[in-house]
Amino acid sequence: MNILTSAPASGLMGDVKIPGDKSISHRSLIIGTLSIGETKVSGLLEGEDVLGTAEAMRQLGADIYKDDQGIWHIHGVGIGGLKQPKETIEMGNSGTSVRLIMGLIATHPLEITFTGDRSLSGRPMKRVTEPLREFGASFKGNEKGTLPITVRGTGDALPIKHHMKVASAQVKSALMLGALNTAGTSVIYEFIPSRDHTERMFRQFGVPITEEKITLESGVKATKITVTGQGELKPQVLNIPADPSSAAFPIVAALITKGSDITLKNIGLNPARTGLFITLQEMGADLTMQNKRLECGEPVADIRVRYSCLKAITVPKDRAPSMIDEYPILCAAAAHAEGVTVMRGLEELRVKESDRIAVMVEGLLASGVEVREHKNGMSIKGGRGVKGGCTVKTHLDHRIAMSFLILGMNAQEPISVDDGTVIETSFPSFTALFNTLGANIYSPMVQIYTPLKME
Ligand code: S3P
Repeated sequence: MNILTSAPASGLMGDVKIPGDKSISHRSLIIGTLSIGETKVSGLLEGEDVLGTAEAMRQLGADIYKDDQGIWHIHGVGIGGLKQPKETIEMGNSGTSVRLIMGLIATHPLEITFTGDRSLSGRPMKRVTEPLREFGASFKGNEKGTLPITVRGTGDALPIKHHMKVASAQVKSALMLGALNTAGTSVIYEFIPSRDHTERMFRQFGVPITEEKITLESGVKATKITVTGQGELKPQVLNIPADPSSAAFPIVAALITKGSDITLKNIGLNPARTGLFITLQEMGADLTMQNKRLECGEPVADIRVRYSCLKAITVPKDRAPSMIDEYPILCAAAAHAEGVTVMRGLEELRVKESDRIAVMVEGLLASGVEVREHKNGMSIKGGRGVKGGCTVKTHLDHRIAMSFLILGMNAQEPISVDDGTVIETSFPSFTALFNTLGANIYSPMVQIYTPLKME
């Protein structure tokens, strides 16, 4: 455990370099492994989750390394070319890694056991294993459907026709990856849009994929995605945009810290990821998107952020999938916004790295913020100052740790988190970057007394 403390900060100033997008980084390693030849990736996020995916891809036969210029090289084995690893695949804290890679393995004749840390071992996997059975894969594990799980993939997969039951890009992507080593065309119907990084990257690597907005006979609207398998993927040169979910932390920090004026470079603005930016603008945030362009098949821009007086809003429920990872940091903004911010439609937040509704409510109450927990969300009364002076439990959740350190920047007393090491998952440069901008985040001196053992 490594306690981190955040004490009141002065205005944040300067240009900010945010690490690469986590979702796109995972996909670049996985899809690069499935092409024959060398894929080169710059801007890869070097957080624990993504490094875990790189290690898993090595176990499956890819040659992956980083050169002196910081460019990652992936020598892929091609669709159908994955090899049987000798060991279990250990996925640490990363739900995206385990769910996407299970999809991949489901249609290869391999038998692999996946394990994870305490947080990942409590997260639901049936949402992905059940639909993957439709390809002909089988799974061994416990009744609850949590890790450890052994996947027995099939070498003779049948194409699927699947109606999505949860709004989840991880489930959709697992099925799309499974479809790659399946003869014929698999069809996925998506009813609530989720991030489409896999669709964009498939197109870039030359996978035959179609996407069409349709209305089913029942009158329900859907996106119909088709993926035709067993083609050949062409290696690519990718430049990964900065992660909007990581950018959210300095953006909110600047909005709530008087005198701030920062510019974040090269931030991904995929419309399925920009819910928080829209919400903050509705709350009165001064955000300007500059220099809009395309990188890696994704829209990007530089974002200038200035301190703003925020006012509370009710966040539309249907916006949740486009900002699902951003609710913890939105809570910090809400604590400083005049009025009651209402967030609903957040059932999925209960099965993230932690139960993010319960854990945020617990930490906000400890920090002296008025908050009410709902089954599917929370309401926060803001604009009355944040007392602080507490240590918040992070429950192995990186976004909880970072959100409370941002809240501490404007509290009357410092706020600590019990374990700062979890931030390594997605934003290893977090503390150094914030301190350069003007924050005051530090590890309090801990004196460790080890009694001498008497013989
Ligand atoms: C992700 C999808 C989201 C998100 C996660 C990354 C992805 O999860 O919360 O951090 O890369 O596909 P769900 O698919 O469970 O919504």
